[in-house]
Order: sequence, then structure tokens, then C-alpha cells
Amino acid sequence: MSAEHPGAGTGVGFCGLELAHPIINASGTFDAIAARRAFGEELLERFPFAAFVSKTVTVAPRQGNPPPRLWELAAGMINSIGLPNKGLHGYLEHDLPALSELPVPLIVNVMGFSAAEVATLVEAFGERDEVAALELNVSCPNVETGLVMGADPHEISLLLERVRPLSAKPLIVKLTPNASDVPAVARAAEAAGADAVSLINTIRGMALHPATGEAWLGGITGGVSGPTVRAIALAQVHAVAAAVSIPVVGMGGVAGGRDALDLLRAGATLVAVGTESFRDPAAAARIAQELAALAGDPAPASLI
Ligand SMILES: Cc1cc2nc3c(=O)[nH]c(=O)nc-3n(C[C@H](O)[C@H](O)[C@H](O)COP(=O)(O)O)c2cc1C
Repeated sequence: MSAEHPGAGTGVGFCGLELAHPIINASGTFDAIAARRAFGEELLERFPFAAFVSKTVTVAPRQGNPPPRLWELAAGMINSIGLPNKGLHGYLEHDLPALSELPVPLIVNVMGFSAAEVATLVEAFGERDEVAALELNVSCPNVETGLVMGADPHEISLLLERVRPLSAKPLIVKLTPNASDVPAVARAAEAAGADAVSLINTIRGMALHPATGEAWLGGITGGVSGPTVRAIALAQVHAVAAAVSIPVVGMGGVAGGRDALDLLRAGATLVAVGTESFRDPAAAARIAQELAALAGDPAPASLI
């Protein structure tokens, strides 16, 4: 590891966790339970992520959005999956026991439609030894105020003030890029006790049915991800890392070691791989290797 590329080639500390390398998964983009069914014990022996982030869990079970749920872009996709999940009790009963067998720390991603719902989730997972940290997905409207929790610094302060005292586990606030001042939201999260922030979540986008001109996706709009959002992610991670002192998890369009290195250089401590794992389920291991090789390389001779 070189001082210039911290954490790239060896272990990295994050919110009190010791991780083998800086590459984790982005929530909702790698189903570790299905992957274990497909790859068996080999998945556990060669687990590609240094920590595993669950897909979003809500208090009540959700079916998700009506189909179609995906639209492929030239470099990425728009998804309107709509966060289908078994709900808190189904997750505790079925998914948590399976995910606790993974050989890496488990980060559970939760989302509530009110501060009270987020509090229920933080309290429930906060007392589980299997859970190393919580990621709060705040990209949804608060039904009590109508405001998207993660788009407004005041909303984020109120939310954190409510849930921070409920658990000693690290709280990672997953910021939405669909906000006018993302660094201001990050600062508010830090001031109210967040241990880390992660970004970017998907960017709102839309596709039309080529014949009818109607919205293609069942959810009308969806979230854009993949290489298309990479430059936006880099700019937002750079701005947020300059605005806060807590660690930043960078993500958005990472498809190779160089993309991961860029986010680390922009100030991220960890890098999450998302959409690329759909194209190549082994992407994270490749990206970690490419990153380590880049970090070990001597600085390239000046090209100009
Ligand atoms: C199919 C799909 C499902 C996703 N599900 C979730 C989710 O459940 N919770 C969440 O916080 N983010 C979710 N995301 C957002 C990703 O975690 C990530 O923030 C975003 O896709 C940007 O990274 P990427 O360009 O590498 O995919 C999802 C993204 C995709 C493409």
C-alpha cells in the first residue's frame, strides 16, 4: 500500500470495523443468499466484498413496483424495482440467519416512511449481534412532512436526533443525489451523530415506450445507475468528503480498479460496487485486484 492510495492494497478501518480491503457491495445489487445457492461454499471461501450491505429492509413487507422494472441504457440502467422485501419480521426470521454466515461484517440497509418507522428498524437491528452497522436509506418521502428525508438538512437532523440514541452501532447515512445541496445534508448528518455517509444513490430518470410514448417503467420514473452516473458520483463524493470529517463510502458507476481509485482519491474510505455486479457477478474481486495493483504501482511518469 502506498500512502498516496490509502487502504487500496491492504486492510482498512471503517467505523471501528477492520475490513480486508476497501471494496464492498452497493445495497440491492448483489443477492448473497441466491449467490450462495448458485455457487455453494465457494462463495464463502472467496467472498468478493470486504463487508456485505443488505438490500433495503422496510418495516412492512413490500411487493415492489409493477413491471416493467428495468430499462437498459447505453452505459447503465434505470431501475424501478421499488424495494421489494420481506419486511422486518420476515428479514429477521429468514434472511438474517443466512447472511450472518457470511465471512464479512454485515451492514443492514433500512428505510422507513416516517422517523418512527426508522426508529423501529434501528432499534430492532441495533440489538442483533449479527449486525455490524446500519445504513439508513433516506431517499424516500417522510409521510408526515411530505419531504424527502435525505434531500433536506433539517429533516436529516430531526431523523438522526430521533434514532441516534437508539443504537450504539455505527449509523451510515446513504445520501440521495436528488438534493439541491448534498454536502449540506452530509454536514447535518454528521452534526446529528452519523458515523459515516455513503453516496450516491441512484439519480431520478425516465424512459418512454418507443411505440406509445407512455412511461416505460411501472413506477413511471426510476433510478439511473452504472457508468452513466460515474462522473456525477465522483463530483458529489469529492464535495461531500471535503465537507465532513466522518468516513465516506463512495459509489456510482464503478466498473474497474481505476474508478475505485478515483473515488478513494476524491476522499472516500470505502468504495461500493453496484450495477457492475449484474454484468459480472465476480466484478468486485476483479476491481479489488485491479485497485491493489494500481496502488502498488509506482507513480506514473508525467505524461505532459
Ligand atoms: C437494481 C438496483 C437495486 C437497488 N436497490 C437498492 C436498495 O435496495 N437500497 C439502496 O439503498 N440502494 C439501492 N440501489 C442503489 C445502489 O445501491 C447504488 O447506490 C447505485 O446503484 C449507484 O451505484 P452503481 O452505479 O454502482 O450501481 C439499487 C440499485 C440498483 C441498480
